[in-house]
Amino acid sequence: MNCPSTRVSIIGAGKVGSNLAQRIAEKNLADVVLLDIVPGWPQGIALDLMQALAVERCNRKITGTNNYADTAGSNIVVIAAGIPRKPGLSREDLLSVNARIVTEAAKQAIAHSPEAIVIVITNPLDVLTYLVWQATGLPASRVMGMGGVLDSARFQTFIGMELGISVAEIHATVIGNHGAAMLPLPRYSTVSGIGIDRLMDAGTIERLVERTRHGGGEIVELMQTASAYIAPASAACLMVESILLNQSRILPCCVYLQGEYGVKDIFLGVPSRLGCQGVEQVLELELTDSEMVAFRESDRIVRQSIEDAKAILKV
Ligand code: APR
Repeated sequence: MNCPSTRVSIIGAGKVGSNLAQRIAEKNLADVVLLDIVPGWPQGIALDLMQALAVERCNRKITGTNNYADTAGSNIVVIAAGIPRKPGLSREDLLSVNARIVTEAAKQAIAHSPEAIVIVITNPLDVLTYLVWQATGLPASRVMGMGGVLDSARFQTFIGMELGISVAEIHATVIGNHGAAMLPLPRYSTVSGIGIDRLMDAGTIERLVERTRHGGGEIVELMQTASAYIAPASAACLMVESILLNQSRILPCCVYLQGEYGVKDIFLGVPSRLGCQGVEQVLELELTDSEMVAFRESDRIVRQSIEDAKAILKV
């Protein structure tokens, strides 16, 4: 007898995709199919990962393929295919290459898994999530991007490092686009429930906010030949977990807005409830006038990129 098991397909078996596969399998969340365009590559990575699972005494299956038919019946499709950021290359510069890769990958994956929930990781994140939603025709609740969990984790990390306090006690919120115009929200960031403005002066908070906004770029500058991939994989795994285990966690994710935060027909990062239906609720934080101005700037940037991408793709 063949018992169907929960399946996550990851398109793009690069650094993010392979790290995510390992996390999903070792947390026993699902079997994983890794798909990549390079012949042999995903098959090799999958074997390496299976051998790691043997060490970990984990029974999950990870398979590698170049064929979308092998991803059929996936509960979740994660898109991590594309070219990563390089020094001097902004997220927006990646647009023309990654827009084509990601929309094509999403269409092919959904053709084989029409019930799947899609999580986009490839940058520039917000615009690509929008394009995936349009290209697949899926309900907006089943399409989301991974940005806010990572950006919030970066803000939490910097707060923890500054205060010398365990990151486990720190909650931080970052909304807006996954780029330099993102909006870390000190007013919604706490250490064991205490607002960070009670623990740090305004100048320190502003420095950490700026470091968060450039958190991805800082890593690219240091590594030179790659962009961050370990925390991005962890962040995506948290979203996968909340969906597959129907946990209803409130996570900042790139989701479709229909009037929330005063904007419409756009994907941007805001706190969202993730469960087995996908995005089950969008939470609206009260923003000050200046926070609202900053959020609208995120909206403006992403909207412009969407127009640019549509012109490139002729859609
Ligand atoms: N179909 C399938 N896979 C593809 C395609 C395609 N059309 N084009 C490229 N790929 C694969 C590459 O062969 C490579 O294995 O996508 C993978 C990308 O992996 P890496 O280059 O290692 O990039 P990674 O660090 O994993 O980042 C992937 O995530 O965080 C974002 O900005 C990052 O957009 C980037 C993405």
